[in-house]
Amino acid sequence: MEEKTCRIGCIGLGGRGLSMTELLLEVPGVTVPAVCDIIEERLAKGVKSAEKKQKGKVTVRGYSDYKEMLQKENLDAVYIATTWTTHIPIAIDAMKAGCHAGLEAGGASSLEECFDLVKTSEETGKFCMLLENCCYDRKELAVLNMVKQGLFGEIVHLEGGYRHDLRDEIVLGRENKHGRLKNFMSRNGELYPTHEIGPLSKLIGINRGNRFISLTSISSKSRGLDQWIKDNKGEKYDLYGYNWNCGDVTSTFIKCANGETITLHHDCCLPRPYSREFTVQGTKGIFKEAPDDTDGVIYLEGISKKRHKWESFNEHYRKKYEHPLWKSDKTTSVTVGHGGMDYLILAAFAESAAVNGKPPIDVYDTAAWMAVTPLSEKSVALGGAAVAFPDFTNGKWINREQPMRSKYSLDEIWE
Ligand SMILES: NC(=O)c1ccc[n+]([C@@H]2O[C@H](COP(=O)([O-])OP(=O)(O)OC[C@H]3O[C@@H](n4cnc5c(N)ncnc54)[C@H](O)[C@@H]3O)[C@@H](O)[C@H]2O)c1
Repeated sequence: MEEKTCRIGCIGLGGRGLSMTELLLEVPGVTVPAVCDIIEERLAKGVKSAEKKQKGKVTVRGYSDYKEMLQKENLDAVYIATTWTTHIPIAIDAMKAGCHAGLEAGGASSLEECFDLVKTSEETGKFCMLLENCCYDRKELAVLNMVKQGLFGEIVHLEGGYRHDLRDEIVLGRENKHGRLKNFMSRNGELYPTHEIGPLSKLIGINRGNRFISLTSISSKSRGLDQWIKDNKGEKYDLYGYNWNCGDVTSTFIKCANGETITLHHDCCLPRPYSREFTVQGTKGIFKEAPDDTDGVIYLEGISKKRHKWESFNEHYRKKYEHPLWKSDKTTSVTVGHGGMDYLILAAFAESAAVNGKPPIDVYDTAAWMAVTPLSEKSVALGGAAVAFPDFTNGKWINREQPMRSKYSLDEIWE
């Protein structure tokens, strides 16, 4: 990535977009000549911070209309960190304007927009990459490395969750101009599936010899947000007593073509510590994320010292099975951005854009992972009925072309 400069425009400068724009400028060869937000103060802050980060060598132009930015700037790619419902429409416009698109985590609003996304990428030849940073987290990558070496045998069952107490962020969406509120008011289902389904999909070759075939979701009642409002804002607050559509905990079950099952939990409205519940189970053993997310427990038949007893992953396995990316000094020195994984996803995105290559998370992965949300809403609305999972590859999953060889590949391990 050192030789070629990659010009990336950044759209959406809330907490996430601003910090990721700064981190993007840590990636060798990246320049950010333009940024965009519809809120004036955020735009001004974004221009200032991008100029400072580029040490005054680049004049950064600010736009309140992303379409104007796409038209006027000669960009290689755009990074999109707006609200969930705008990610796909903006990515489609960006590809049509000749840019590769990288979009932040979040579910889709409808199945139709997922199909439109795929069609636009195929027609324009521009890639669309979901910037699912959890695919590059240290433990997820170490476990991917172990799965590729066969340590868990054949994978049978996977689990993940987005269990994150976001009650204040959701409820105070108007005061803090944050995008989650309306989704929890209006929708019921697995609203934020990609942190879990992304890394899990890569363990079992989804869209490369395997695919999701059906999905079932059930949502609990909704009580957490109202209780939070009562305790923190009082009964006079206008949203107290609101009939929230989104259940506090949504449980989703996915069946795959090769027989694996996956469970997901969306859980953002009750008091609890953070967890992604990353769990991998195969014919030779099991890995389970520790409740505090800093370690995991593991049991491998014939390798673990005591029968039926968990071992600490960090103590006994981490060093031996560290993914090559996490052996790099650059990764471990960039500790901002969720401890390093944010840097890796941005570096993978920028490298793919710079060489006009195939990204490690392509448009088929992006569509399938984001489609969990509208499918889950449909299943919840049908009382937990199974819904068929569309094949966004249109049959290509059966015999896909080889993925691009890259140290950022999530389909293979390259030193
Ligand atoms: N991967 C991660 O770990 C991670 C962490 C936090 C947030 N996120 C994702 O990043 C995204 C942004 O999160 P956030 O917390 O910063 O949200 P936010 O709502 O605070 O910020 C979104 C920003 O986008 C701007 N925006 C909305 N529509 C726009 C448009 N049409 N043109 C230009 N700007 C527009 C808004 O004005 C706002 O400043 C979300 O999708 C969120 O899910 C991912």
